[in-house]
Amino acid sequence: MATETEDYTQPVLPGRGGSDYERYLRTDELLELQKTPGERAHHDELLFQTVHQSSELWLKLAWNEVEEATKHLEAGEVAPALRLLRRANLCLQLIHGQLDMLEQMSPWEYTKWIRPVLGHGSGFDSPGFRELRRVAPALGQAFHKLRRDAGLSVADVYVKGREHEDLYQLAEHVIELDERLIVWRMRHYKVVARVIGDEVVGTQGTPVELLGGLIKQKLFPELWQARNELTELAKQEG
Ligand code: HEM
Repeated sequence: MATETEDYTQPVLPGRGGSDYERYLRTDELLELQKTPGERAHHDELLFQTVHQSSELWLKLAWNEVEEATKHLEAGEVAPALRLLRRANLCLQLIHGQLDMLEQMSPWEYTKWIRPVLGHGSGFDSPGFRELRRVAPALGQAFHKLRRDAGLSVADVYVKGREHEDLYQLAEHVIELDERLIVWRMRHYKVVARVIGDEVVGTQGTPVELLGGLIKQKLFPELWQARNELTELAKQEG
């Protein structure tokens, strides 16, 4: 019986695009999400949209991984949660790196041409950031339940870290998520100051100075507080 050879040049998936690569990744739709040269108020709008849109994708991956990691923790499974939290942390590292690209824009050209076409658009309405903040508290609760079940305070997780390696690793992955978000905010603040200044108001009327204040916000303050307790404890033990 003759075997039929597959024609690899032809797509087999449904959807738009001439190849399965384009159909699976929906590149037609994806690449239509940026303004065309004729629609742009300034050439740098492509740079600006690329950084923001790709940041939203990484943030989407980050919060989905955090949510999934939390489900694992609720089922008492620490190892798979660590695998997913590592990814979420890497997502935040990537969006941090992407901020460099925005400093390739001229402050004058951004302010003169791009800012006026943003309407009331503000990072406060970033769905990715909003979702990350939504899923974070459950992650904290899942961690606390596990360490409480083990009869440990947050400080104990560190003092007895070698006896409770999994909880110690978990605490470190969780605080890393917080730290990466804070470091992103610090970097974002500096980018904003460099591009539009630090004594002006944003597109929703928020003073840029206020962004500097947000750097102090913590998702998991008790993990930071534990450091103070450990320093005190070590001092007492001499
Ligand atoms: C030239 C580049 C940028 C400028 C000038 C800028 C400016 C601002 C300003 C002025 C605010 C304060 C709120 C407001 O009034 O709008 C803000 C907040 C914010 N922006 Fe940006 N931004 C830039 C790039 C980005 C990028 C690439 C992201 C990535 C998602 C981002 C996400 C956010 C978020 C999440 C907030 C809320 C702040 C927080 O919760 O800490 N921004 N931005």
